[in-house]
Amino acid sequence: MTSPLISPSILSADFARLGEEVRAIDEAGADWIHIDVMDGHFVPNITIGPAVVKALRPHTSKPFDVHLMISPVDQYLEDFAEAGADILTVHPEAGPHIHRTVQAIKALGKKAGVVFNPATPVDTLDYLIDQIDLVLVMSVNPGFGGQRFIENQLAKIADIRSRIDASGRDIHLEVDGGVNPETARRCIEAGADVLVAGSATFKGGAAQYADNIAALRREG
Ligand code: DX5
Ligand code: ZN
Repeated sequence: MTSPLISPSILSADFARLGEEVRAIDEAGADWIHIDVMDGHFVPNITIGPAVVKALRPHTSKPFDVHLMISPVDQYLEDFAEAGADILTVHPEAGPHIHRTVQAIKALGKKAGVVFNPATPVDTLDYLIDQIDLVLVMSVNPGFGGQRFIENQLAKIADIRSRIDASGRDIHLEVDGGVNPETARRCIEAGADVLVAGSATFKGGAAQYADNIAALRREG
């Protein structure tokens, strides 16, 4: 089985030392940096805006994997692109025209991802698969770190893996929420190739980050 890419979610980092934390996970082996943007409207939490993304950009050259949990979303795409995002991932529920939103991300020269909440069906994918670079499966309800992995998302991961393979396109399949070494293994078996991990990466302090990331990769 191939080794997954690991995208630590900085939602579980020490927000008073975010630059230092991003450097630490970069050195510890993170492949991407997952940045959770929440607006207190689309999800019941408020986190990070473009100014923080911009401030973090000089701290690493790893791709910024920006998960937008904001509604409306279209009017902020350019701000996040200019701030240094490499991948912009959006929820179909966050606007009336997901196809147009994906087109707007591509027009900004960024990679486009679409993300499905635990109870969101994935048929939309059939009409986006020719344009997107990534599919993200939420294995918790978005809003907070540290939640328990929702088991029935494994079937959804397998379903999406089949659709990606049938498309013949090079599309990442990422999983976000409750990922730890044990759930990581099952996500990879179901077909995921990128794992987001917040609490599993940042537990135990900076001295543990490399071991934590290696444990997620090994189980994959
Ligand atoms: C939840 C976020 C996740 C979260 C994951 O809305 O999208 O990225 O930080 O945290 P863990 O890995 O702790 O479940
Ligand atoms: Zn996320």
